[in-house]
Amino acid sequence: MPHEPKPVITKEYEVEQPEEGAISNPMDWYDSPGPWELEIGCGKGSFLLSRAKNNPHIRMLGIEWANKYYRFTVDRMARWQQTNVRVMRTDAKIFVMRHLPPQCLDALHIYHPDPWPKKRHHKRRLIQKDFADAVSKLLKPGAAWLLQTDHREYADQMQEVLCQRDDLEQQPAQSIADVAGPDWEGTNFQIKYEVEGRPIYHFAFKRK
Ligand SMILES: C[S@@+](CC[C@H](N)C(=O)[O-])C[C@H]1O[C@@H](n2cnc3c(N)ncnc32)[C@H](O)[C@@H]1O
Repeated sequence: MPHEPKPVITKEYEVEQPEEGAISNPMDWYDSPGPWELEIGCGKGSFLLSRAKNNPHIRMLGIEWANKYYRFTVDRMARWQQTNVRVMRTDAKIFVMRHLPPQCLDALHIYHPDPWPKKRHHKRRLIQKDFADAVSKLLKPGAAWLLQTDHREYADQMQEVLCQRDDLEQQPAQSIADVAGPDWEGTNFQIKYEVEGRPIYHFAFKRK
């Protein structure tokens, strides 16, 4: 990407996590309505920025739990004055399962979610049946759910949890490059693992 512009006020790019029991209306966060897409675990915001820059008609929300990366992403969106993006610091699983209205999502992006490799930590993985059930209710008919991982065993879990569902239609595996836009350079984790020569596993689904 070209040299990034100077920092500006960041507050308008941040969205507070909703209070207990509240259901958000994502369109309240933007200056004008449009298709709404969510990225979970946006890290340093590379995909979020690229997707938003190349698709000004789309409204994007990036969710990031780690404060350091959350702040980095907010500052980055503000430097670019990317007005179709908002960023929230919260636990995305709770947000998805409790705080969104049905059929609000035009696309969900989850790239390199934490694999929690130890067996006793597998229950912390995001892609599980209860999470998929909640996502399914949020996706509009025809909406896309795109995932990518470098972790073979987590890819197997994604396959097991998502590929047998009656409400999702698997699409030809799509690389992020196909959706991110022409200036796409890869997510931080993608770049790191590609350098190591690790295979990357892609999944693309359409909500029936
Ligand atoms: C392995 S990193 C991948 C970051 C980025 N997507 C990439 O490909 O470079 C996973 C990111 O998800 C965030 N994360 C993990 N669990 C989360 C959750 N429940 N809610 C929000 N963010 C989460 C982590 O803080 C981390 O930044």
